[in-house]
Amino acid sequence: MPDTAVLDPEIGYVEEDVDPTLDLFSEIERLKDEKNAILLAHYYQESEIQDLADYVGDSLGLARKAAATDAEIIVFAGVHFMAESAKIMNPEKRVILPDLNAGCSLADTCPADEFAEWLKQYPDHKVVTYVNSTAAVKALSDVTCTSSSAAHIINQFPEDQPLIFAPDKNLGKYLIKETGRDMVLWDGVCIVHETFSEKRILRLQVRHPDAEVLAHPECRDAVLQHADFIGSTSQIRRYARENGPASFIVATEEGILHQMRQDEPQNELIPAPPESGCNCSQCPHMRLNTVEKLYLCLRHEQPEVTLEEDLRRRALEPIERMLEMSEGVK
Ligand code: 13P
Ligand code: SF4
Repeated sequence: MPDTAVLDPEIGYVEEDVDPTLDLFSEIERLKDEKNAILLAHYYQESEIQDLADYVGDSLGLARKAAATDAEIIVFAGVHFMAESAKIMNPEKRVILPDLNAGCSLADTCPADEFAEWLKQYPDHKVVTYVNSTAAVKALSDVTCTSSSAAHIINQFPEDQPLIFAPDKNLGKYLIKETGRDMVLWDGVCIVHETFSEKRILRLQVRHPDAEVLAHPECRDAVLQHADFIGSTSQIRRYARENGPASFIVATEEGILHQMRQDEPQNELIPAPPESGCNCSQCPHMRLNTVEKLYLCLRHEQPEVTLEEDLRRRALEPIERMLEMSEGVK
């Protein structure tokens, strides 16, 4: 039975009628080889996609891999801004994303036109922008950063240099504490990290008194103040690997647990709960990618991420500066 998937260039695959008898795992591996494609996946992807990936990492690791690859096609199993950054660094390569609608609530809080207008109030400030932003916002910035590299990058600016940090205010507040720099913050948040519940984490700690809390710095300050360790996804993973076997309450998107379970099966991993509803904390954008869409996108080499050349060049500079300034960051 042939697959009849139809790709709408605006919205991605609208019909995922993939032949159910196909072994999608071996098909995806075959297509990767045949097309000289590399599959890069973020930790917030579903487990099966992580298992198929050539590299699974945090935003910095993924950007480094994208910058270094000699594959002809980059398949980005993550969200749009990640694939867009890969394209900015690799204009000659085809960069494809299983679902073009996989956006980011945080990037959406910072429209480039509003950001440009707002920046006019701070002509003397340098702009440090989290990679969770559009190319147009990156193009208005001096340097981009990831959660693992932000403090390291900020500390390289002279102390008397006023700074703006955008778009995540939770990460910004955390960085002000970490670096002692009084930065001006854009008012954006991530819908996943914003909703972890301090109250429910405290209740979990009563039930698991020995558990350490590991939190992503996109969480609110009320959650971060109970954390034993704060770091990017890769740093959280490494901390649990190096400090187990033990119990950990993990305050980030639950996709990270897949690699953490494999690293140290004896660790007890307890996902931190959101304010209300179920106990799962999945990013609705990341989870738009599925194994079926991954197969279709590899097979048809679409949907492709493209951007206008002038914008690409302007967005490239702050990304390259980030890669230089984050040398040595793990
Ligand atoms: P890191 O993987 O760099 O910690 O980023 C987390 C995130 O929210 C990506 O969208
Ligand atoms: Fe954006 Fe938050 Fe999803 Fe990351 S987890 S992609 S920051 S919405």
